[in-house]
Amino acid sequence: MSIKLFITGTDTHIGKTYTSVGLLRLFNNHGYSTLGIKPVATGIMNNSNRFNEDVIALHKNSSVKLDYHLINAFTFQTPIAPHLAAQQEKINLSTATIIDKISVALNHPAQIKIIEGVGGWHVPLNETEMMEELVRILALDVILVVGVRLGCLNHTLLSAQAMQTSGVKLVGWVANCIDPSMTFQQENIDTLKKRLTAPCLGIIPYCEEPEHYLTIEKLQL
Ligand SMILES: Nc1ncnc2c1ncn2[C@@H]1O[C@H](COP(=O)(O)OP(=O)(O)OP(=O)(O)O)[C@@H](O)[C@H]1O
Ligand SMILES: [Mg+2]
Repeated sequence: MSIKLFITGTDTHIGKTYTSVGLLRLFNNHGYSTLGIKPVATGIMNNSNRFNEDVIALHKNSSVKLDYHLINAFTFQTPIAPHLAAQQEKINLSTATIIDKISVALNHPAQIKIIEGVGGWHVPLNETEMMEELVRILALDVILVVGVRLGCLNHTLLSAQAMQTSGVKLVGWVANCIDPSMTFQQENIDTLKKRLTAPCLGIIPYCEEPEHYLTIEKLQL
């Protein structure tokens, strides 16, 4: 068995890594072998090693330990949109160059692969391609992390609609409560539960261990 889950979000900085780490820990606790992959990362921790903190977090929480460059195709220095970062660094960023660099990780016999996207669903890689094309080419199942805050209903429903148009499979979504001051939080989550056909895999409260609030039983694989 090898399950490949692509983790996308309603926006950047809404908890894709937080949730990915939770999923890795949850699958680890159930005895699965796990491998986190972050194909494209922008922003580095320090100039001496050009490591990105998301890649490090996924590596740390995976049961299978592969070298950094095997679970990450591209780390760009500046935290900007990937196609702009690639232009700035004169790097050929495309679905083909990404797949080439992560093929060892993708073909590794780890039972669960958690592949974190970059930004939200419609993220350009270059003049003609978007990250969603990688998901289609690799036939990945998708989990949508909803950063629960004002505006998330619109972002969530548009993202789900775009996935449906692309023909990719949304196998579940997660409500990640990133804004502790949000009013009508539960009502917003209930609205999404009624409107999305994919199951809710959990509601992660603010500042709690994510793995305790997620379920893998409802995953529609
Ligand atoms: N449920 C939560 N409770 C508290 N803090 C959270 C929660 N979810 C995310 N955060 C924090 O919010 C910030 C953004 O989360 P995270 O890095 O997981 O987002 P992301 O979508 O992966 O961002 P990026 O687009 O940069 O990859 C981090 O500092 C993270 O620790
Ligand atoms: Mg992240």
